[in-house]
Amino acid sequence: MNREDFEIFKQDPSLIYFDNGATTQKPKVVVDSIVDYYTKYTANAHRGDYDISLKVDMAYEGVRDKVKELIHNKKSKEIVFTSGATASINMIVFGFMKYHLTSGDEVLITKSEHASNILPWIDLAKEMGIIVRYIPLENHLVTIENVEKMVNERTKVISLAQVTNVLGDERPIEKIGKLCKENGIYFVVDGSQSVPHMEIDVQKLNIDFLAFSAHKMLGPTGVGVLYGREELLENLKPTSLGGGMNATFDSEGRIEYKSLPSRLEAGTPNIAGVIGLGSAIDYLLKVGLNNIHRHEVELKKYAIQKLEKIPNIVIYNKDIENGMIAFNIDKVFSQDTAVYLNHYHICVRAGNHCAKILKEDIQVKNTCRISFYLYNTKEEIDELVRVLEQSEDIFKIVL
Ligand SMILES: Cc1ncc(COP(=O)(O)O)c(C=O)c1O
Repeated sequence: MNREDFEIFKQDPSLIYFDNGATTQKPKVVVDSIVDYYTKYTANAHRGDYDISLKVDMAYEGVRDKVKELIHNKKSKEIVFTSGATASINMIVFGFMKYHLTSGDEVLITKSEHASNILPWIDLAKEMGIIVRYIPLENHLVTIENVEKMVNERTKVISLAQVTNVLGDERPIEKIGKLCKENGIYFVVDGSQSVPHMEIDVQKLNIDFLAFSAHKMLGPTGVGVLYGREELLENLKPTSLGGGMNATFDSEGRIEYKSLPSRLEAGTPNIAGVIGLGSAIDYLLKVGLNNIHRHEVELKKYAIQKLEKIPNIVIYNKDIENGMIAFNIDKVFSQDTAVYLNHYHICVRAGNHCAKILKEDIQVKNTCRISFYLYNTKEEIDELVRVLEQSEDIFKIVL
């Protein structure tokens, strides 16, 4: 699908890139949009009164509208640009939850969350005595029944990835969103592994806060999005203060913030990055997120059918419908497998994938992860299978 749009595959046709969960390749149009900004209309945003600065403002604010469309939201001011999903979640926890939770309040997460959706909560728990509880997983999955069992009158937040980054399981977000709404619980969704791969509708899903990163969806690094309902963002205390976010201040310490979303975007933003994100969104919407999802699921099914015939392979998420495969070659350290595959120009991720406590659920510390995207092909999978089939050579290569 659209492989010719990516310069990297033209320059290196033998590259097999299966690490899209970590970051994706960038189509030429995205890179061009960034170069255009730097070569044709560089100026700061929201500060100038001359032509190119107005062009920058229009481009930058135009991307806000594109993000709004992407997640099916109604208001652009509910979209805040950050440096990535990690920054977005930290803003939610330390800018909002810190001032709206009290000691003894409970936050529900799971052991398969990314570090970015665990550590800020643990830190806040240490600081102010909130309690972090883990929803038990059922065969690695979150079920609405288990979520319901964990909810009580002290539950104030449920914070989950829509799709996890190791097994790629999708959570019943719509049902959990409804449960949260009915019980006055804040619903935080980490969309890092879902927004790039599927249609998402924040209104329909009753999501209060959503976080995701541009670089996992064909865009540049260093840019992300924080979506939040207006009344919540209005009450999110800026965790960063400076230029661009204040309307006025005086020497007595009186500060008046600007209205949303500027009050949460202090300092010069990553203008080039935001423009690149806009171009990535155009590209994704043109291909169609449903088509992307369908393509990835088809690749996964094709791969599983072939991989499971390899005698010494262990696959941890065979039946989960998505574009991710977590596996190990029996008795081989996952990083050795990755180094072996690298020898054949195949990029996979090995390790704990920043989900360091998932091992308590899947009983294995490290895995290899294949994560597909729109440009991956069945031919690449055939090559992976061919290489893994002869993996008895693995130690000759990695040692
Ligand atoms: C589920 C999930 N959440 C959060 C993140 C953090 O994203 P970033 O490093 O872009 O802030 C990742 C990145 O791998 C992820 O997979």
